Amino acid sequence: MMRFDIISVFPEFFEVLDLSLIGKAQERGILSISSHDLRDWTDDPHRTVDDSPAGGGAGMVMRPDVWGKAIDSILGVGTVASTALAPSAECTGEDSAVVPHTVLAVPTPSGVPLTQRTCERIARGAQHVVIACGRYEGIDARVAHYYAQSGVDVIEYSLGDYVLNGGEVAAVALVEAVGRLLPGMVGNPDSLVEESHGAAGLLEYPVYTRPVQWRELAIPPVLLSGHHGDTARWRKDRALERTAARRADMVRQLDAESLDKGDKAMLAGLGYLVARGGEHPVSVTARRAEPADACALAELAARTFPDAAPAYLTEESIDSFVRQNLSLEVFRELLADTLHYYAIVLEAEDGRLIGYTLSIVPDGDGVAGSDEGAPVDALIDGRERRGPLTELSKFYIDRDWRGSGAADILWEYTFRALAQACADWENPGVFLGTNAANRRARHAYRKLGFDEVGERTFMVGEQDNHDVVFARGLRVP
Ligand code: 6GU
Repeated sequence: MMRFDIISVFPEFFEVLDLSLIGKAQERGILSISSHDLRDWTDDPHRTVDDSPAGGGAGMVMRPDVWGKAIDSILGVGTVASTALAPSAECTGEDSAVVPHTVLAVPTPSGVPLTQRTCERIARGAQHVVIACGRYEGIDARVAHYYAQSGVDVIEYSLGDYVLNGGEVAAVALVEAVGRLLPGMVGNPDSLVEESHGAAGLLEYPVYTRPVQWRELAIPPVLLSGHHGDTARWRKDRALERTAARRADMVRQLDAESLDKGDKAMLAGLGYLVARGGEHPVSVTARRAEPADACALAELAARTFPDAAPAYLTEESIDSFVRQNLSLEVFRELLADTLHYYAIVLEAEDGRLIGYTLSIVPDGDGVAGSDEGAPVDALIDGRERRGPLTELSKFYIDRDWRGSGAADILWEYTFRALAQACADWENPGVFLGTNAANRRARHAYRKLGFDEVGERTFMVGEQDNHDVVFARGLRVP
């Protein structure tokens, strides 16, 4: 049986704990809760519990002498039965979490945020929880210090980033959050597994019940389909979506190893990618490159080009191409011409560039890269081109991010930027050339809606390359 003692200047506050599941649990002997009036440990006629702050300032501070007497008497200090102040539980090292011990919980807005992990630890390991509810500006700091150094497990906790008038509401929250985890409490143990802040590290998916149709709102059909696989996928997707929208910090802490293909695809759509060998999802953003990106962009270009080059290209050809076409000077120049060059970068949350596209937009309804084998007369999405033909001249993803979904995010942004640049035209297009031997790239461009429309020869250094030319339209569907 777990014992809770709550000390407060409002002991009547805790009558709420006689209601509902916690009340039933008390009747069933799973836990016991007593509340105590702090003023019972004063010895002046006014029953004073506070005084002005040392060092000055607003408000009042609760006196350590009154609190000390109260806590000592509840811990049973000096009585034979007392084990509370024995430091043994705290000194057992790693196992201290499972050795039954006493917790002194002190609710305060300056505490550590209370988490499900802490509640689990208390439910597993504590046999006695004393909750010291402060009011005013808080309790003299020596109280927590004293009991911690005496071997009590002192937890100064907060409910969140807002201020309450006292710790009473937070005490009720702790009793309920810990109490419901005690053996014999929850009817269905599955409901502890899938809930928010459970093992999955995600917020719970939205839930529904009859009626199927309510005020124009229907239950999502997949939940009525009887298909368990689809239902599980849908729920996981909604949980990921919700967690990304409400608790980005939790998404960043997800264990990459626990994510399946579907999870990763969903996260990619939400702007989170897992790098090869990465432990957690990372938030990425696509944006137009700025002049200040020139250096990082030139470095990215210089390391991705050789990476993707076909095996027959010599080191000299590659070096010469990088020097001539991907130098810092080249990038400085084209980043200054925002009318004709669209450089889009994919940036990880730490500021690292992990991919880029470079597109060329011609003047008017002209053709970009007419010296690079542009398919001037090609049909665009099956009809005659009416408007400019832009060129997707570079499309590279850093090695560790290939296959992560980075290319889709980068393409989506690039496509929209080019479509917007050509928005005044009826049927504008974009083309690109890629090495004919690169089957993976050809497949990828086809999946992005490109059609094969021709061929070209592309020079890298002194070497000819046989390229396939792809094109597609630029209208936003
Ligand atoms: Cl635990 N106490 C008080 N007084 N205010 C709070 C809190 C606790 N958690 C959030 N605000």
